[in-house]
Amino acid sequence: MKQKILVTGGTGYIGSHTVVELQNAGYDVIIVDNLSNSNAEVIDGIEKISGIRPLFAELDCNDKEGLNKLFTENPGIKGIIHFAASKAVGESVQKPLLYYRNNLVTLINLLELMPQHGIEGIVFSSSCTVYGQPDILPVTEDAPIKPALSPYGNTKQINEEIIRDTIYAGADFKSIILRYFNPIGAHPSAEIGELPNGVPQNLVPFLTQTALGIRKELSVFGDDYDTPDGSCIRDYINVADLAKAHVIAIERMLENKSEDKLEIFNLGTGRGVSVLELINAFEKGTGVKVPYKIVGRREGDIEKVWANPERANKVLGWTAKESVEDTIVTAWNWQLKLRERGIQ
Ligand code: UD1
Repeated sequence: MKQKILVTGGTGYIGSHTVVELQNAGYDVIIVDNLSNSNAEVIDGIEKISGIRPLFAELDCNDKEGLNKLFTENPGIKGIIHFAASKAVGESVQKPLLYYRNNLVTLINLLELMPQHGIEGIVFSSSCTVYGQPDILPVTEDAPIKPALSPYGNTKQINEEIIRDTIYAGADFKSIILRYFNPIGAHPSAEIGELPNGVPQNLVPFLTQTALGIRKELSVFGDDYDTPDGSCIRDYINVADLAKAHVIAIERMLENKSEDKLEIFNLGTGRGVSVLELINAFEKGTGVKVPYKIVGRREGDIEKVWANPERANKVLGWTAKESVEDTIVTAWNWQLKLRERGIQ
């Protein structure tokens, strides 16, 4: 048995896929989640895929005493992967304090507790949002950090600073910050996937719900951008591919392979795909038409961003394997599975 790993937000979208990959790699996983944007049935899906039921504690990472108790009762946790956070950009503008509390205090609690419990490393979920609109594409990890366009984006920047300052002040642990581009799709088994709360704000869940008839039509936010077809460009990365990078990051820290106490990696495919191209790929891959209309730009949207993933490719030995074309079909299969289960 490999080491014990705590996964905060482990019943969430990226968290659940990562728990599966950790268990497949032999890690012993404990999930902490307050179920604010997920549900406990996700654990059944994780068990179905990996054959192992992870330990689960329903707990809010804002509750430092609760976390302390968890670490005391489960000695030997070696690493943390910290996903637990609020992530809706629009909501963060309406409720900034909720976002600052949920996304900053939780990290501070974990960092304060780590040394007391001998925890050697933390992987942090960051986002390409820290680059804003990059001046040079594809964007590398050394690109300048741009002013955040939302409290959500700001929390990711501040979180990165909190980790950096803590590590360079001599903290007795390591960290790897992973900057995700746009994670999409679901596990190929369709046992786990993205479960958005209410009306989805992100493109892919809105698209698959529209294809199923749950939504009338998809709005494409702008076709007058400086891109070949006028719609925005993103780097859509398969969520199961993304999850695998976390296993590599944890192993790297715990087996002392890190070159520095803090390392930062872009996790993307290196390929930019426009909104219209993604719709087209969906229609081709599934044979299902998506009613859509072009509407005005969405405030705060970045025109185009895609990763230079070379550092992750070379240093971590990780490469995104699945194509966008195949990945978008996994999102559809998941949507169909949700319908089977009576969940919309
Ligand atoms: C946003 C955040 C990102 C965050 C991610 C997860 C910013 C700039 N980006 O990514 O940090 O990690 O959400 O919540 O803060 N689109 C449509 N119609 C729709 C929905 C989206 O055309 O109904 C378009 C958008 O304009 C965009 C693309 O699809 O060009 C992707 O949008 P979305 O899935 O919301 O992700 P981001 O905005 O890239």
